[in-house]
Amino acid sequence: MSDLFVSPDEVSIPVRAATTLLELAVDAGVPLAHLCGGRARCSTCRVRVVSGLDGLSQRTELETAMADKLDFPDDVRLACQTTASASVRLWRLVLDGIDLEMASQLGEGHYVGPVGRDVDAAVMFIDVAGFTTMSEALPAYDVVHILNRFFNRVEEAVVARAGRVDNYMGDGLLAVFGTTDEEEYAIAAVEAGLDALAIAADMHDYVSRIYGHAFAVRVGISVGEVIYGLMGGEQSARETVVGDVVNTASRLEAANKRTGTTMLVTESVRARTGDRVEYGPHFELDLAGKDGQVVAYPVVGLVDPGS
Ligand code: FES
Repeated sequence: MSDLFVSPDEVSIPVRAATTLLELAVDAGVPLAHLCGGRARCSTCRVRVVSGLDGLSQRTELETAMADKLDFPDDVRLACQTTASASVRLWRLVLDGIDLEMASQLGEGHYVGPVGRDVDAAVMFIDVAGFTTMSEALPAYDVVHILNRFFNRVEEAVVARAGRVDNYMGDGLLAVFGTTDEEEYAIAAVEAGLDALAIAADMHDYVSRIYGHAFAVRVGISVGEVIYGLMGGEQSARETVVGDVVNTASRLEAANKRTGTTMLVTESVRARTGDRVEYGPHFELDLAGKDGQVVAYPVVGLVDPGS
């Protein structure tokens, strides 16, 4: 009989055919974390194989992709992707006290689904240009008044286009389109971005008249797969999005400073909206945290349906 021996729990479990190490461990009550639900989309089920490496299944294609991304040595495996045909000893690697507490919240002794879901979504970042200068010159309450006036109207525009404001960060706003049944979320995001620019132009008249300061915003939009799920501590967890798409939208918003534009979108946004949106010549940009150059398109406006 072959056994799976898990440390530091010091638990010995009979190996079963066609059953992953994760399933064996969780069935036996070992709190082995598995945040993505066993789909090779995280690395929380990672284990170090102490002995018995030769008796394990080969890496799956998905595990290979994750191992390459995180530079795993040969003896670090994803338990959810690995089966054993001989005895094996391993260490759980995600296992400090906090991890243990989270793992037990996720499901004591039973296999649970992913904590979020993968959705294809459009993500929009908006930030106020020259905010530091304005906030240094004006009383803080007036700055709050200006921001709230802008955010209020932008939120209405986002909701009207079936999006939702995911978060406010100081003078910035993150909105997501595509987490509902709405199908045309890429174009909805671009339209909401144009709405935000129009609202900012109105705000400029207001702010310059009353405060003698300019008001303008920058917008970045990206589309693709994000993880949409409950995140945060027990007291403040809320649904939000995480993923490279979010980072890209944020970097594009900031890149407007370099390109002298007000709204930049990714190539994938342009591909999905090109028949309804007019774009200017593209830029090839170095973005922080990105390998190679990212192609970005400045939005000119909506195509006139009558033209
Ligand atoms: S549970 Fe996420 S990769 Fe194994």
